[in-house]
Amino acid sequence: MDGVTQDHDAGGSARARHVAIIMDGNGRWAAKRGLPREAGHRAGIEALRRVVRGAPDLGVEMLTVYAFSTENWRRPAEEVSALMRLLVEFLESETPELAAQGVALATIGDLSVLPQESQAALRRALASTAGGGRLLLTLALNYGGRAEIVRAAKKLVRMVQAGDVSLDDVDEAVFARLLDTHAMPDPDLLVRASGEERLSNFLLWQSAYTELWVTETLWPDFGMEHLQQALRAYAGRDRRYGSHS
Ligand code: FPP
Repeated sequence: MDGVTQDHDAGGSARARHVAIIMDGNGRWAAKRGLPREAGHRAGIEALRRVVRGAPDLGVEMLTVYAFSTENWRRPAEEVSALMRLLVEFLESETPELAAQGVALATIGDLSVLPQESQAALRRALASTAGGGRLLLTLALNYGGRAEIVRAAKKLVRMVQAGDVSLDDVDEAVFARLLDTHAMPDPDLLVRASGEERLSNFLLWQSAYTELWVTETLWPDFGMEHLQQALRAYAGRDRRYGSHS
């Protein structure tokens, strides 16, 4: 699939096939209840489970979720290790159910610096869900849009130096194929929980024409009613991709 040209039918379809989510607000959810931040992340995983279960019935074919950003390493060490532990727990407990639901797992981001245990759990989960054809669930892990673009630029320079591609042939499609998201179309809709109206370094290249929908709801409180609301709002949008009306 071509990440650049896909979905560029002006006036586009009313159905969001690919939805990206910034699962924000776990910490505030926990603080409001006097709980540790880890409890917020656990509740965030429950919200993710609900959305993964329900999304295919709403016509969603791909979900890409921001699980751990390149900036999240700056959090206190205990919170980083809790998130890594929760990731492994999630993968180990959820993989059989995901496989049964026809969910294929994928990742974007630089996994090489994740703990070995997380990398091994990811390899197992990806292998055992590889056949899933109902939903592609992509976890963004140690992901940052700028870091991804820099990695792609480095690959491109190496390819040009090796003579595998000529500089004159480099265009947006060639570049997009070097991004972590090369195998999927750009997101149609980006949902952000907890009210902030920014991309926070998520899918910077891919979101050029993505419709944005922000809810005040904190991620752990997010449910199918919110996804339905987002998809209804999306269906009413007029996607022009920079062309005239
Ligand atoms: C933001 O909440 C959320 C994250 C840092 C990551 C999202 C992680 C999860 C939903 C759980 C882990 C996911 C998997 C798949 C294991 P925040 O802590 O920034 O909330 P705040 O802005 O209220 O402090």
